[in-house]
Amino acid sequence: MAKLTLKDIDLKDKTVLMRADFNVPQDAELKITDDTRIRATLPTLKYILDHGASKVVLMSHLGRPDGKPVAKYSLKQVAVRLKELMGQDVLFLDDCAGPQIKPAIQKASEKLVLLENLRFHSEEEENDPEFARQLASLGEVFVNDAFGTAHRAHASTEGVTHFLKSAAGLLLEKEIKYLGDAVKDPQKPFVVILGGAKVSDKIGVIENLLPKCDAIIVGGGMAYTFLKAQGKQIGNSKLEKDKLDLAKSILGKAAQLKKEILLPVDNLVVDAIQADAKTEIVGDNIPDGKIAVDIGPKTLKFFEDTLKTAKTIVWNGPMGIFEMDAFSKGTRGLAEFIGGLDCVSIIGGGDTAAAVAKFKLEDKMSHISTGGGASLEFLEGKDLPGIAALTEK
Ligand code: 3PG
Repeated sequence: MAKLTLKDIDLKDKTVLMRADFNVPQDAELKITDDTRIRATLPTLKYILDHGASKVVLMSHLGRPDGKPVAKYSLKQVAVRLKELMGQDVLFLDDCAGPQIKPAIQKASEKLVLLENLRFHSEEEENDPEFARQLASLGEVFVNDAFGTAHRAHASTEGVTHFLKSAAGLLLEKEIKYLGDAVKDPQKPFVVILGGAKVSDKIGVIENLLPKCDAIIVGGGMAYTFLKAQGKQIGNSKLEKDKLDLAKSILGKAAQLKKEILLPVDNLVVDAIQADAKTEIVGDNIPDGKIAVDIGPKTLKFFEDTLKTAKTIVWNGPMGIFEMDAFSKGTRGLAEFIGGLDCVSIIGGGDTAAAVAKFKLEDKMSHISTGGGASLEFLEGKDLPGIAALTEK
């Protein structure tokens, strides 16, 4: 890796300023419903402490409070969970900036300090240099482990790197390794699976990966704009009318490059999207009034036939409305099949990661990204500012 990593910096007796992505989902009672992102930073925290750092000052955002304090976006619960997971005390400070912060850190007997939500200050998202300087003054070296936020050029991801030697944490390094190898040097055959609601969300990924992969499998809501572009009937299924020409041109470009784009050949359809709706399997011409909510069994088999010889698989976007059990078979079947393959399987963050977690197949995948938007931008081939700003080796 061209950037400094933890192994390149001296941590002994240092106060380490670390950006993590603790933007975790919480329920109405503010109970954390998925702590994956907190657990994903533990190896970095342990490494830093095992290598003699005197303290780690952790900073993160949670939600989008728009530059002012909002109680439900407090990181307080994250501090509680972090303490449980690390088995050691965590000092939680109720702000991240101001004259009281540095003395509180210096006085702390705890080795782990978590600052309150960075986005309670508008200067964070504005990447204000003075705010970044204040944050940077809280540590002697900066470690960025927030892959999920690496696509944002904010004070805590980009700004601070102008003031401190800046290195990638172990999670960031791992994400760059898996996603980077897949984008730059994939073992072939390389198959990309795209799903989710919208074609528009995945255009950049298709454009970047189509020339590099052997085939693209398309499922989920976005598949119906492609089927319509092929002249198929799609009933009341999801359609992005303004993306029909784009879908046609993608299909044309794939044919030119002799790359396959695989679309559903049968579908699970309903009259209305509700958990107890009567379901039916139809072919790739969907009758009037019917809404496709999942791929059908023939499609799953069709997709599996292409996947079984793949050496690298990148999957971003579910095959249907997997959150509702009755419509989850396609996404589950695909996840189970990929989990049983001997290949590098990379799961994009967000919905796809949530699906794999729901089916308890996390251990079966080579890598599950902790970044939603960040992993998409990475797969689009974009430079992520949080990574670009780190110190060169
Ligand atoms: C995410 O959940 O994708 C990251 O934490 C970034 O959050 P944001 O989209 O609010 O910047």
